Amino acid sequence: MDAISYELIKKSNGCDARLGKLHTPHGVIDTPVFMPVGTQATVKAMSPDELKDLGAHIILSNTYHLYMRPGEKLVKKSGGLHKFMNWDRAILTDSGGFQVFSLSNLRDIKEEGVTFKSHIDGSKHFISPEKAIEIQNDLGADIIMCFDECLPYPVEHDYASSSLNRTIRWAVRCKETHKDTERQSLFGIIQGGMFKDLRERSAKEMVALDFPGYSIGGLSIGEPKPIMYDVLDWTVHLLPDNKPRYLMGVGSPDCLIEGAIRGVDMFDCVLPTRIARNGTVFTSQGKLVVRNAEYAEDLRPMDTECDCYACRNYSRAYIRHLFKAKEILGARLTTIHNLHFLIKLMEKIRQAIKDDNLLKLRDEFYAKYGYNRD
Ligand code: GUN
Ligand code: ZN
Repeated sequence: MDAISYELIKKSNGCDARLGKLHTPHGVIDTPVFMPVGTQATVKAMSPDELKDLGAHIILSNTYHLYMRPGEKLVKKSGGLHKFMNWDRAILTDSGGFQVFSLSNLRDIKEEGVTFKSHIDGSKHFISPEKAIEIQNDLGADIIMCFDECLPYPVEHDYASSSLNRTIRWAVRCKETHKDTERQSLFGIIQGGMFKDLRERSAKEMVALDFPGYSIGGLSIGEPKPIMYDVLDWTVHLLPDNKPRYLMGVGSPDCLIEGAIRGVDMFDCVLPTRIARNGTVFTSQGKLVVRNAEYAEDLRPMDTECDCYACRNYSRAYIRHLFKAKEILGARLTTIHNLHFLIKLMEKIRQAIKDDNLLKLRDEFYAKYGYNRD
């Protein structure tokens, strides 16, 4: 038995959306789901109790960061990531593939693995597919990722093709290395740039390797949104119905809706927590920069339609004041609101799948929130 299993509850009429349950060793998760990001074993500014109150059932953390600091051995010694950070619900760790390419300096990619310099102190490191799995085994998340190369955008077909071949060979090595499949489930990652033939080949090869779930990587890296939606259209239908599909690094409200419509079950993104700390919030009418001078005397809540702790109790004027005064409560309140907004949006998406009116929800959302805005 694999650590996780996906239960398909309902397929939508009118689009490819699905309602499901993801069974994990740390609880059952209703899907489609948004996973808040806790890069350094903490969702910035939130305590685990607050995350639970917000309705989060699974969070994401990062192999690259925890390997660098404090080191996976310390996490293991502490009883694993759940215990270390006092989070007893599900955790997914990304493999480090993406961060090695986006954060570190002087990467040298070889068949064996990647040599790179730390973004913290410049020290030299080597991560191979085997090493990425060993680190994730020590961290102990419920769901772990293959080590992959996330291609830049744009990229030549030739390079994309040879990189994809290597990512597929790395996936084979990851699968061979990962032994304790009853404790942790390893997902394969689909790459291939924005090329239809490569995405199809990637999906077919990953499915042939029979992973308990499939991630779609290499998206939301600067390409226009219609291209991302094309890639989803090319790949998702090639994936088996009885396994979860995870769209990596995507979490703007419109992309969550569009992804769900195309049959994606899981999403993660730093966007809600990151923009919150800059004083920007999602609202039912679009984004609002609460830090702006125009809200200095605005006594309305950030979102007049929101019932989160921040909107029930605090005005735009107060939260703007906190940001101006550099008080940390400001960032905490905007983070609570943004996570609440996305978690509620996912609830609405699940309800709309039940009621077979997700396309109507999308139209209503765009009409109020604005088209293609994040
Ligand atoms: N996070 C966002 N995109 C990616 C990707 O392509 N690969 C990995 N491993 N993580 C990601
Ligand atoms: Zn709110």
